[in-house]
Amino acid sequence: NIPVITIDGPTASGKGTVAHLVAERLGFHMLDSGALYRLTALQALRREVPLTDEHAIAKLGEHLEVTFKGDAIYLGTENVAHAIRAEEVGNMASKIAALPTVRQALYSLQLAFRKTPGLVADGRDMGTVIFPGATLKVFLTASTEARAQRRYKQLIDKGFPAKMEDLLADLQARDARDMNRAVAPLAPAQDAHLLDTSQMSAADAVEQVLAWYAQVRHK
Ligand code: CDP
Repeated sequence: NIPVITIDGPTASGKGTVAHLVAERLGFHMLDSGALYRLTALQALRREVPLTDEHAIAKLGEHLEVTFKGDAIYLGTENVAHAIRAEEVGNMASKIAALPTVRQALYSLQLAFRKTPGLVADGRDMGTVIFPGATLKVFLTASTEARAQRRYKQLIDKGFPAKMEDLLADLQARDARDMNRAVAPLAPAQDAHLLDTSQMSAADAVEQVLAWYAQVRHK
């Protein structure tokens, strides 16, 4: 029985950072499920497939040739780790993520990440839909302001332009889409541990997750 730790939560809640650090500490594999939606979105934007062509977008997701290698994310032979972080791609990802056939297309791809010695899965629906039997489920939250500030810093650090005002509006729009969509709306799993990181460093959040995991790992 291969252990799985799911880390769900809204946009810019720090899931990715915490998930990577937890995976590193435990020597586990890592699934950045948002990257799969972003990769599908990038393909759709590049090929100018309109949002209305749900079937064509799902096909792109189903046939993603993706390889994660350290910080690099290859689409075929091209490293697109940087390209998929652009806000334009994130926005498109959030829109295609509301399409049921796209979510279905990415389902088995995500299950395949579960390998020994274990997996840390980061996303919106890891504990609710993809790994409902996970060993430990965590739901990260943070105030809108804290999240907008994190997103701002992340974009500036990566050399992307960013305006706080636009980011706040964007974040609220993304929250609304994530929570109100018909399929896999964003919500904590019933058995998830909630962790509000508004006032908490990533390092402290990691310690809390590891402490919870230590309590359940032998169950
Ligand atoms: O930065 P943010 O957390 O918004 O992005 P991300 O985790 O890279 O995911 C990009 C988009 O994919 C999000 O806006 C979500 O709407 C969607 N997504 C999803 O629906 N389900 C997942 N498991 C992961 C991402």
